[in-house]
Amino acid sequence: MLLNGNNNDKNAQLMKLVKSKPLPVHVAIIMDGNGRWAKKRGLQRIAGHRQGVETLRDIIKISDELGIKYLTIFAFSTENWKRPVSEVNALINLLVEYLRREVKELHSKNVKINILGCLKAFPDTVQREIKKAVELTSKNSGLNINIALNYGGRADIVRAAKNIAKDVYNNNLSPDDIDEELFSKYLYTAHMPDPDLLIRTSGEFRISNFLLYQIAYTELVFTPSDILWPDFDLRAYLKAIIEYQNRQRRYGGINSREDET
Ligand code: IPE
Ligand code: IPE
Ligand code: MG
Repeated sequence: MLLNGNNNDKNAQLMKLVKSKPLPVHVAIIMDGNGRWAKKRGLQRIAGHRQGVETLRDIIKISDELGIKYLTIFAFSTENWKRPVSEVNALINLLVEYLRREVKELHSKNVKINILGCLKAFPDTVQREIKKAVELTSKNSGLNINIALNYGGRADIVRAAKNIAKDVYNNNLSPDDIDEELFSKYLYTAHMPDPDLLIRTSGEFRISNFLLYQIAYTELVFTPSDILWPDFDLRAYLKAIIEYQNRQRRYGGINSREDET
């Protein structure tokens, strides 16, 4: 009880700190470590994924309360098909279960759900469930949740290049119109700002083919290896945001006039 009280106090202090500085507009998360979380407890990997969904619920709630505008979560990569069929199926089932359980409440909170990635690889029933959630929430103007599903950064870029080539071929676009801004409009994240903060849990220091084009100037925060995705809580999230807020973003320039010589 006392311990809880202390933790609540600490979290309240962190929350105050977070709210005193500009928040990231767009947070992207590589939710990693579910399997290891389960293994540590002698459980099946799927138990880790199940627990990971509970973490996701909390993080969505906190993001919404903080007023973050875009939350992009890496749920299934183009490389995750390499996993055993049983794990792939379990992950897909968890997603459908999650949507069935949560979409109404998300909709009531004005959350808009978008998908990044190619859905064609999924069974029809799964595609229908996903499309239902996207359509239901399409007019909402609150938190944008991008679920990256069968998503790969390279696939995103290749798809954009292909669609640009088609538009040029059909005379809808001139090659001279192609610049960075136009290119970004052909990506799954069209018309969204680039992520300000990318968090990866579980102590892996890599991008694993996530938003390659979009993270050119994103601030990266990697949690220590003892924070696996199911362990990522309010405190860990606030700490990651504070780390972001303490960074100096220069975009290739220099800090301020004081640095000029
Ligand atoms: C992340 O956890 C979830 C997905 C990739 C879907 P992992 O399943 O990668 O867990 P670890 O990295 O094996 O611990
Ligand atoms: C990245 O995690 C993909 C998701 C979180 C969905 P992985 O666990 O698949 O990445 P690697 O294999 O460790 O690079
Ligand atoms: Mg992993």
